[in-house]
Amino acid sequence: MKNIPQHVAIIMDGNGRWAKKQGFTTRVRGHELGVEALRRAATNAAELGIRYLTVYAFSEENWQRPKVEVDALMNILMTSLSKELPVLQENQIRLHAIGNLDALPAKARAQLDATRAATAGNTRMVLTLALSYGSRQELTAAVQGLARRAANGELEPEAITEADIAQSLWTHDLPDPDLVIRTSGEQRISNFLLWQISYAELVFLPVLWPDFSKEDLVAALEQYSSRERRLGKTSEQLHA
Ligand code: FPP
Repeated sequence: MKNIPQHVAIIMDGNGRWAKKQGFTTRVRGHELGVEALRRAATNAAELGIRYLTVYAFSEENWQRPKVEVDALMNILMTSLSKELPVLQENQIRLHAIGNLDALPAKARAQLDATRAATAGNTRMVLTLALSYGSRQELTAAVQGLARRAANGELEPEAITEADIAQSLWTHDLPDPDLVIRTSGEQRISNFLLWQISYAELVFLPVLWPDFSKEDLVAALEQYSSRERRLGKTSEQLHA
């Protein structure tokens, strides 16, 4: 492949539909298999040379799901973080998280911090979990921070730059995604990285997340590779 994206972001969708299709009475089985799909995606992405993988694991809106499902997802998060640590270490993957992390149960937050610390020295790929994440909430917090600095006289409102805004986001230490993949056939962004994906390529795949395979990842990368990212310029300018 001629052009591997530096940063891939994935909206992992379709766990519930997968569980229903398989005849399971609980959607939770889909989330459990979703973790396996995430392990596959992360190890394959690292092997393919992707440097940053960011996944939408739990949205701000997901708190509104039935309590049993929210509790199950938080338990899956906690158990997976400890169970998957050897996989992260073997593959030199550094774990990172973005979102309103204070909203997570204290135990999950502690496990997340421990896994981040344990993998801090890994340099092959950064795996970012978006947890309790909402892009509008992120932008609101950024605006509040900038307004506070302006009110304190530290910043002239007219001097605020795009870089200042990017630096105020939870993603301040990540490059912008080059490619966004959404599984399950839905074609929307659902409040995910709205500022950061301004120039990203979007690939929508029909596969349900628990079935997401290496072939699906490669197919998305091939679509990305075949597209011309003009970033507002003409094709002739790019090839001059
Ligand atoms: C979307 O499927 C998926 C989620 C809301 C959760 C994604 C979580 C995982 C892949 C497991 C890892 C989890 C954590 C918290 C680390 P859906 O439930 O919306 O499926 P549906 O659209 O078919 O109902």
